[in-house]
Amino acid sequence: MQTKIKKIGVLTSGGDAPGMNAAIRAVVRGCAYHGLECAGIYRGFQGLIENDIEDLNARSVRNIISRGGTFLKTARSNEFRTKEGREKAHTNLIKAGIDALVVIGGDGTFTGGLLLDNEFNFPVIGIPATIDNDISGTDYTIGYDTALNTVVEAIDKIRDTASSHNRLFLVEVMGRDAGAIALNAGIGAGAEEILIPEEDHGIERLLESLQRSRESGKTSSIIVVSEGVKSGKNIFELAEVIEKNLSNYDIRVSVLGHIQRGGSPSCSDRVLASKLGVGAVDAILAGERTIMVGINHQQVVLVPLDVAIKGGDKFDRNLRRVADITSI
Ligand code: F6P
Repeated sequence: MQTKIKKIGVLTSGGDAPGMNAAIRAVVRGCAYHGLECAGIYRGFQGLIENDIEDLNARSVRNIISRGGTFLKTARSNEFRTKEGREKAHTNLIKAGIDALVVIGGDGTFTGGLLLDNEFNFPVIGIPATIDNDISGTDYTIGYDTALNTVVEAIDKIRDTASSHNRLFLVEVMGRDAGAIALNAGIGAGAEEILIPEEDHGIERLLESLQRSRESGKTSSIIVVSEGVKSGKNIFELAEVIEKNLSNYDIRVSVLGHIQRGGSPSCSDRVLASKLGVGAVDAILAGERTIMVGINHQQVVLVPLDVAIKGGDKFDRNLRRVADITSI
């Protein structure tokens, strides 16, 4: 029989994402609404191993909905990858009187949560939060929308200088294995070329396309390059190849880096985080476990954690077509 849930723990793990605070807030307030206790675990699974846990109430999460990052802090814990680490974490959960755990993060976080659930028969529920939007079973992950807006804003600025100097800019954006940020922000910012990990058409085709673009009268260009691109060349090496082959281009490289993960979450991310946080507490009370709460056509859905982790192919081929047509 399922234990009666009296106290829920919540942590954020892996790369931070704007909207994580809004998700924590919704979990804490969901608990308060249902008369449950809530414990915040600092620094993700590492903090759980080190017993860095504090009780939270509805007032503990005031004024955080608009803040980027995560006030619970986050970490990528190597110790939690070991059975001994997970044993310590489980012991601390029991000591704190926690009956179920909400983990907010991406696939690494869900993998950790799944192990804890399987090995110790401890109920774990995931909330997808990563700027990469690379989780299966949810249309969007928390932080993705904000990151897209940050990237588009940055590329708009780069466009101003590219166009003033008649330059070609290569702009690197995040997305280890997924090109969602590159493709969507690339379309949004009117990029001439978009390189993503899901496809590799070879450098020849890129060079031909750039040549055509120049001949068609374009005086400046933006190439958005996803960091996970599989061309075998990093962005600086790509710039060198272009420079060598197309002498009529004045080239610059810009790596956007971690500015993409920071900043105040967009309204869309705040609402998504609030829905999923409330949904996670509801799911736990309904006896659900080993699942992720995701969003599908605006509705909260429950997806097995192992399915969510697979990431799947979220690559939208129609979007690629749109990018190709609109960048002519
Ligand atoms: O998963 C989110 C992400 O921002 C990826 O896009 C990126 O590859 C990675 O995290 C960077 O991680 P870190 O901040 O640990 O260098």
